[in-house]
Amino acid sequence: MTASPDRTDMTPPAREGQGCAPRHVALIMDGNGRWAKERGLPRSEGHRHGLDALRRIIRHGVRIGLEYITIYSFSSENWSRPASEVSFLMSLLRRFVQRDLSEIHQANVRIRVIGDRQGLEPGIRALLNEAEELTKANSGMTLVVAFNYGSRDEIARAARSLAKDMAEGRIALEDITPDAIAGRLDTAGIPDPDLIVRTSGEMRLSNFLMWQAAYSEFYFCDTYWPDFDEAALDRAIADFSSRERRFGGVTAKVL
Ligand code: IPE
Ligand code: IPE
Ligand code: MG
Repeated sequence: MTASPDRTDMTPPAREGQGCAPRHVALIMDGNGRWAKERGLPRSEGHRHGLDALRRIIRHGVRIGLEYITIYSFSSENWSRPASEVSFLMSLLRRFVQRDLSEIHQANVRIRVIGDRQGLEPGIRALLNEAEELTKANSGMTLVVAFNYGSRDEIARAARSLAKDMAEGRIALEDITPDAIAGRLDTAGIPDPDLIVRTSGEMRLSNFLMWQAAYSEFYFCDTYWPDFDEAALDRAIADFSSRERRFGGVTAKVL
């Protein structure tokens, strides 16, 4: 006799039901340029204030016990911006690592970097490696920094790595499963984001975590990133907590 499906198979995991806090919040930090424009300031000022907002959000994330925060810092498409803006964003990353790494480390935060590091200049690559290396044994929140990151690029690199293993006889065709693909992504070992927040009123992913977002909840707000503060994050989390996640199944409420 075949077993009939167990009701519990269709029930979301305990932490992911209604009223629960997200373990992993991913942030598309958008609107720095418009924030600056509204004030008659250069776009770089928007990015500078955006970094202040990021510091507040990291501290708050640690305080409220988030397990993972992922930040979209620079996309694989952001190279198409004017060279002066690209170089400002690179210098901001440098400043962030140089000035904030020790505080982050002291807060027991672990840093993971996702994105294509090969495409970055050696100095930046070394800083990112240093940040990961210094914090790798930390057991508190994980801060995932998406830098030179794009989902399509990430998935293509994962596919290439599996294809290489197959061509060289280490794996068989049947070994190419969703789990195997997830295991080759930059985010291997990191749980999928429960909540993805995008600021500034835009409602798109812009090539961010497309594989990992399969069952994420989305939250959009009009606030420009430099104005995003602790209360704004709390609002996003409260909204998440009021939702019901089903993961394709049915819950007691709708049965
Ligand atoms: C987000 O703000 C920061 C990065 C993409 C690095 P933007 O620079 O995209 O700001 P807007 O969208 O032009 O206002
Ligand atoms: C997404 O914002 C990338 C980051 C926040 C780093 P963009 O401002 O680059 O996205 P689009 O171009 O508006 O889609
Ligand atoms: Mg933008």
